[in-house]
Amino acid sequence: MKRLRIGVLGAGLIGRRHIDTILACPEEAELVGVADPVLGSDKFPDVRAPFFTTAEELYDRAKPDSMVIATPNNLHAPQGIDCARRGLHFIVEKPVTDSLESAAALLREVRKAGVKTLTGHHRRYLQAVSTAKKLIAEGALGRLVGISVIWSTRKPEAYFDVAWRKAAGGGPILINLIHEIDLMRHLCGEMVTVSGTVSNAVRGFAVEDGAAAVIAFAGGCIGTVLASDTGLSPWTIEQGTAENPAFAYTGENSYRVVGTEGALELPNLRLWSARDPQAIGWDKPLSATPMKVLERDPYIEQLRHFRRVIHAGEAPLVSAEDGAHTLAATLAVAEAGRTQRLVDLDAARRALA
Ligand SMILES: NC(=O)c1ccc[n+]([C@@H]2O[C@H](COP(=O)([O-])OP(=O)(O)OC[C@H]3O[C@@H](n4cnc5c(N)ncnc54)[C@H](O)[C@@H]3O)[C@@H](O)[C@H]2O)c1
Repeated sequence: MKRLRIGVLGAGLIGRRHIDTILACPEEAELVGVADPVLGSDKFPDVRAPFFTTAEELYDRAKPDSMVIATPNNLHAPQGIDCARRGLHFIVEKPVTDSLESAAALLREVRKAGVKTLTGHHRRYLQAVSTAKKLIAEGALGRLVGISVIWSTRKPEAYFDVAWRKAAGGGPILINLIHEIDLMRHLCGEMVTVSGTVSNAVRGFAVEDGAAAVIAFAGGCIGTVLASDTGLSPWTIEQGTAENPAFAYTGENSYRVVGTEGALELPNLRLWSARDPQAIGWDKPLSATPMKVLERDPYIEQLRHFRRVIHAGEAPLVSAEDGAHTLAATLAVAEAGRTQRLVDLDAARRALA
């Protein structure tokens, strides 16, 4: 299988993680160039690949066959469209774009060009998540009934020194909740309706500091999710897995999935079932089976998967299209909070078709 000749757009916080990932996997990919108008090679003494100030220079001089788009959200659509028109496969960071309309425009170009895409919902590559997905698919929980998710942490004050983090779009809905929505879709299937409440009560910024939603999935499963960046708690996937070194590890579970035959806690998998499968009911004892999985770096798994999607015909775990449906459901939480109405996702589905 051919190695990727991959370039990176945007060398900020997450661009650096992609750069480090590519450099850690020389058997998978060669980093042929990085483009960032502000950050240059002086900030990356360990990176030998050339730095450019524009994407065009990178394309013309480094000749990549694939790209990572790790730039601000409003650039994802134009840069993704440009990649598609140039026949470049790409991983685009989440959110796939900054609106439903721009996501639809991106998908049109991707389909026309036939390029392969991934959206950077890296958590889908966690071993705990793929094991949970498999257990649910195999019927370990019986018929899926519901899911309950918390993502709550207190972001440090310095985080808000950057102006866009206090403005609309810079809050926990598009930055954090979108990951929970994506995992909820991944585990429980497509979302049908969303209702919600959004709050800025604690910090009082223009942007929200918390959101809660009630979700109905196709097939009858229902769910709730709370996302807050003011509430100090041990319950985020980052704290539960140590996948993000910026978060202090707690090892706590923040997802609970329930079915007619059992329940599952994530990310430190614990499967609950009737001690006697012939005796199920609230008066009957349960047993918990802890399931230790060897966790792996989701960014490395994402890169390996990307190469197999391009060169070995593997189906993308989370394509740009999939990312667009996650975006639509996430935007629906904001809309439901704003209008205090139930949002039906059918119109969004048609817009993205
Ligand atoms: N998967 C995740 O968990 C995760 C985590 C953090 C950020 N992200 C996403 O990654 C993206 C970047 O976020 P960040 O935190 O790294 O932001 P950042 O501000 O740290 O970095 C963005 C970089 O893009 C550069 N840039 C601006 N215009 C550019 C252009 N035209 N061409 C090339 N580079 C350009 C900026 O100079 C900056 O260095 C956002 O979409 C964000 O939502 C995803």
